[in-house]
Amino acid sequence: MEEGQRQKPKKRRKLFWICIFVVVILVVVGIVLWVTLRKKSEAEEFKAVFTSRCCCCLSKYAFQHAYVGKDPCLVPPDAYQLLVDAAPFEPACNRMMFWSKTKDVVHDLTSKRDCFITMEDTFLGTVLNELTWCSKEGSSDTFTSGCPGWTDCVNNTVRSFWSKASESYAQVACGSVSVMLNGSIAVPFNPTRYTSHNMTSYEYICDVSLIFSTNKQNCANPSLKNLQKELAQGIAYSCQEVPESQIQECALQPHKPCGSCW
Ligand SMILES: *[C@@H]1O[C@H](CO)[C@@H](O)[C@H](O)[C@H]1NC(C)=O
Ligand SMILES: *[C@@H]1O[C@H](CO)[C@@H](O)[C@H](O)[C@H]1NC(C)=O
Ligand SMILES: *[C@@H]1O[C@H](CO)[C@@H](O)[C@H](O)[C@H]1NC(C)=O
Repeated sequence: MEEGQRQKPKKRRKLFWICIFVVVILVVVGIVLWVTLRKKSEAEEFKAVFTSRCCCCLSKYAFQHAYVGKDPCLVPPDAYQLLVDAAPFEPACNRMMFWSKTKDVVHDLTSKRDCFITMEDTFLGTVLNELTWCSKEGSSDTFTSGCPGWTDCVNNTVRSFWSKASESYAQVACGSVSVMLNGSIAVPFNPTRYTSHNMTSYEYICDVSLIFSTNKQNCANPSLKNLQKELAQGIAYSCQEVPESQIQECALQPHKPCGSCW
């Protein structure tokens, strides 16, 4: 009887030490895992985002082929040729929209209505939208931080991708193409941004919609003359001044035919 009573606290004490031991082991394993995973997490996270958005091995190979092992400021747009060949843009007649400095209002519209698609709504655009990636000379890793910013160098990993993607997207343009520019900035059409797309070589109609968040510029803006000049002979050009509220209204009225938005 006395033996049993004395053994109970002994057992409890044993159990207590086992618990402490297990907790200590778990903490140590946790710390080790945390340290190793943290090192890998950057690359892993990027891989996970890329893989969850995109499941095609060929695209992944072609994507990494463009920049892995290279100085992030020495990746020209053509490095992504293999990628745009592996995941080509589908022509979307009369629905293609380009934009500059009007991102939010345009994406609000394209997310709610099928009338228009921007490059960010396409497969490659969706996969890489808002991501940052780069590698280093001689490295086989992908980094998501410490990469050059958009304006730090011209041929940076991310900017070159969007440059190449815009060019390929423009190449499949057909029918009427819309360009949504910002009427509240001094130069709504910035030629350097579009010339690389070589818009001149494609035979499509260009509808330019100038969005007015504040009434500063109109269709007579000199920069729009430059846009017209860049279009090949025979390409129709028209410009409309559209208040921002009208575009927001269009986004909210799914029953309204797209053609009557503006
Ligand atoms: C970017 O790359 C292109 C193509 O290789 C090259 O012609 C151009 O000079 C480069 N630009 C800069 C600023 O390095
Ligand atoms: C136009 O540009 C201005 C200044 O960058 C910005 O504040 C405004 O939101 C832009 N308008 C649209 C419709 O995106
Ligand atoms: C643009 O395309 C036209 C017609 O295909 C071509 O003649 C011209 O050289 C191209 N320009 C550039 C800068 O690629």
